[in-house]
Amino acid sequence: MRMGHTVNFQDELTRKTTEADQILRNYLPDSEGFPRTLAEAMSYSLTAGGKRLRMLLLAESYRAAGGREKVYEPFMAGIEMIHTHSLIHDDLPALDNDDYRRGRLTTHKVYGEALGILAGDALLNYAYEVMLEGFSLTAYPDRAAAALSVIARKTGIRGMLGGQSFDVENDGKPLDAASLDYIYRNKTSALIEAPLMAGAVLAGADSRTEQLLEQAGTYIGLAFQIRDDILDVTSDSKTLGKPVYSDEKNHKVTYVTLYGTGKAAEKVHDLTGRAVEYLRSAFGQESFLEELVQSMAVRNK
Ligand code: IPE
Ligand code: IPE
Ligand code: MG
Ligand code: MG
Ligand code: MG
Repeated sequence: MRMGHTVNFQDELTRKTTEADQILRNYLPDSEGFPRTLAEAMSYSLTAGGKRLRMLLLAESYRAAGGREKVYEPFMAGIEMIHTHSLIHDDLPALDNDDYRRGRLTTHKVYGEALGILAGDALLNYAYEVMLEGFSLTAYPDRAAAALSVIARKTGIRGMLGGQSFDVENDGKPLDAASLDYIYRNKTSALIEAPLMAGAVLAGADSRTEQLLEQAGTYIGLAFQIRDDILDVTSDSKTLGKPVYSDEKNHKVTYVTLYGTGKAAEKVHDLTGRAVEYLRSAFGQESFLEELVQSMAVRNK
């Protein structure tokens, strides 16, 4: 019974990830009217095949909140472009200085640092061009505007960019638990809260549901980053598609350096349980979404 359940989840996950990849491809810019190198650098990392988790969270949240239009598709593409921009910039020499991402050399390694910076900027901007196309796919433009606002806020100074900034600023410095919590809530949780909230908002969910999903996203994101810290010291670069020991190289305090991998794993489990409770309060039982979140806690890549 349990096994049948799990096999089914894996099949569903593969099917939905393939669908997400197709949606993303549909929204890639055609390469007319701007430099070919920029077009190539933009799609290089985007099409390398990440896990597409933020796209899936947005689609699941939209569906669970009762959405039935196509408006979520450009928003799925937009959130993945923003996420990929954050990775391209995160890997730059001035930030984490990493050479591999999604199983390939990083964008700046292939196209040079200037194109790495510009391709990241271009993806961030193009994400909004794409999401604005969503307005023609809905009878509820006010919902699309509200979703756009959530995504802009969670990406920005009081979200991912604030977290990234405080993170790199503190490389090599001691950090207390509260500072680390601030960094993780912003650099990682914000970009998980965004798709969960935006999906529901697009479907017309009320503000209580939106708040419950924000809480769920916070815990999912904290668990996700702690799992990432664990994998940085326990996995290998072939499995991850990115370097291991990146945090040590950058003299970063992480959840693992503060508490060890054992405590960190317990924390991932605990945070994931709390996240699932919030998801249930928001949506009732949504088994694919719950299994997706559970699988993120034990992921190997
Ligand atoms: C990596 O995110 C950045 C972190 C927040 C740890 P993912 O692990 O979701 O990266 P991709 O999209 O699958 O490459
Ligand atoms: C980065 O955290 C999160 C963002 C890119 C916003 P990390 O620096 O730990 O992510 P990885 O390990 O390079 O994917
Ligand atoms: Mg980083
Ligand atoms: Mg990094
Ligand atoms: Mg990491």
